[in-house]
Amino acid sequence: MNIDIPEQLIAALRDARHVCILTGAGVSAESGVPTFREAQDGLWAKYRAEDLATPEAFLADPALIWRWYRWRRDMVSDAEPNPGHYAIARLEEILPRVTLVTQNVDDLHRRAGSKDIIEFHGNIFEDRCFAEGTLHVGDDSLDVPICPDCGANLRPGVVWFGEAIPEEALTRSCKAAADCDVFLSVGTSSLVYPAAGLTDLARENDAVIAEINPNATAHAASFDFALAGNSGEVLPELVKSLG
Ligand code: OAD
Repeated sequence: MNIDIPEQLIAALRDARHVCILTGAGVSAESGVPTFREAQDGLWAKYRAEDLATPEAFLADPALIWRWYRWRRDMVSDAEPNPGHYAIARLEEILPRVTLVTQNVDDLHRRAGSKDIIEFHGNIFEDRCFAEGTLHVGDDSLDVPICPDCGANLRPGVVWFGEAIPEEALTRSCKAAADCDVFLSVGTSSLVYPAAGLTDLARENDAVIAEINPNATAHAASFDFALAGNSGEVLPELVKSLG
């Protein structure tokens, strides 16, 4: 598949002092990890987010939620990073400064070699005390594990609907979006805030903004560049174009 990377985007990347990359579920689609909103096989097409990804749902039936996240954890453990993940890790090596903000909880960026990842929605391999929020190493039991400190249930270390983004992640991401020269939005539907708002911050600070997505999002027209393709194909091409 022939993918043309616009010369102006390559030039902007070459001149960039700081590049900020926001990724979503689409960057892991080619690793076999379902996205959320894809019509047929998106997770939220099969399950009601409010039944599985809220503190209320966990309070109502912790065993059901725990088992669902255990299923997702096993699925992403079996997945492998794809060329899109590796291309981002390579960009971190060849560009002066890259800030990677991911909405994904699947740990695939780290497994592909990315270093300083801002996990905006947490990490599925970590657990948190439901009462105190303290972080615990991921427990692989099938039953809901108990907090060794206070005896409350442990819950998956991901951000659920209605919950705040971890403060450090939010502050660092907003700073990077407001400071970058180029902002790449990769594999996200740009529907979930505050993550989707990072693009607006970058735009307000005159960054060159580009979207990489096989399906143009609702915001595509407001991007300087909308590269219609799979990230596992477009990103390696972009790295190659940078020489
Ligand atoms: P979505 O499922 O909303 O969007 C995935 C996007 O990836 C879509 O726009 C697809 O067109 C695109 N896509 C599919 N295959 C792709 C590929 N091979 N390469 C590039 N793009 C591809 O997922 P997110 O935008 O990540 O939050 O969703 C944001 C948040 O909503 C998630 O982090 C999760 C979810 O509810 C929480 O649970 C808090």
